[in-house]
Amino acid sequence: MFDLLIFVAIPYISIALALFVTPYRYLSGRLTWSAYSTQFLERKSLFWGSVPWHYGVVILLIGHAIGFLFPSAVQSLLSSMTRLFVMESIALGLGLLTLLGTFVLLFRRVFTGVRAVSNIADYIVLLLVLNQAITGVYMGIFARWGMEWYLHTAVPWLYSLLTFQPNVALVSGLPLAFKIHVLGAFLILAFLPFTKFVHFLFFPVGYLTEPPILYRWVKRRKA
Ligand code: HEM
Repeated sequence: MFDLLIFVAIPYISIALALFVTPYRYLSGRLTWSAYSTQFLERKSLFWGSVPWHYGVVILLIGHAIGFLFPSAVQSLLSSMTRLFVMESIALGLGLLTLLGTFVLLFRRVFTGVRAVSNIADYIVLLLVLNQAITGVYMGIFARWGMEWYLHTAVPWLYSLLTFQPNVALVSGLPLAFKIHVLGAFLILAFLPFTKFVHFLFFPVGYLTEPPILYRWVKRRKA
C-alpha cells in the first residue's frame, strides 16, 4: 500500500499538478514567478548558503538526468571500479555541499531578519530540499553503489511510470531512505507551481542584454 502510494499515486498526482497548475500560475500571476530576493536583509550567510546549495544540487540533478537519459552509456562508464569510486566520491562531495548549503539557508531563515518576511511556503521548500540532501547523502554512504543500482531499478521504474505501466516491483525492495528520497522528489514537483520552486523554470537569458539595475539607498534627512 505504502509502495503504491509512493511509486504510483503521488508521482501521477504531482506530475498532473505540475503540468496543469504551472501554466495557470504563469498566466494569472506572472509577477509572482520568482524567488523573491532577500539579499537586502542579509547577504553574508545567503552567499554561504545559496552558492554551495545551487552548485551542489544543479550538478547532481544533471547527473540524475544523464543516468535517466543515457543508462547504457553511464553503465559502461561505471563498469570500472576505479571510475565508479571516483564518480561516487564526486557525488558524495556535491551531496555534502548541498547539505551544508541547506543548513545555512535554514539557519538564515530562522535566526536572521529574513524571518520577518518568510512564509510557510519558504519553510516547506527548505525542508523538502533538506530531506533530499539528507536521504541522498545517506544513500551515498550507506547504500552503495547508488549510481549503479539507480540504473537498474529507479531508471526502469521511471520509464514504466512515463509509459503508464508502473512497475513497482522494480523499486519496492530498495531501502527506506530511497523511498523517502523519491517521495520528497515528487512532493517538490507537486509544490512547484505553488512555491518559489517555480523559478527553476525561468532562465534569465534576457538579462544578458538588459542594462543592469542600479539600487540606491535613500537616507532621510533629519528634520
Ligand atoms: C525520482 C527522482 C529521484 C531519484 C530516483 C533519485 C535517486 C537518487 C539516488 C539513487 C541517489 C544515490 C546516489 C549515490 O549513491 O551516489 C541520489 C542521491 C542524491 N539525490 Fe536524488 N533522486 C531523485 C530526485 C532528486 C531531487 C529532486 C533532488 C534534489 C532536489 C535530489 C538530490 C540528491 C542529492 C543531494 C543526492 C546525494 C548525492 C550523494 O551524496 O551521493 N534527488 N538520488
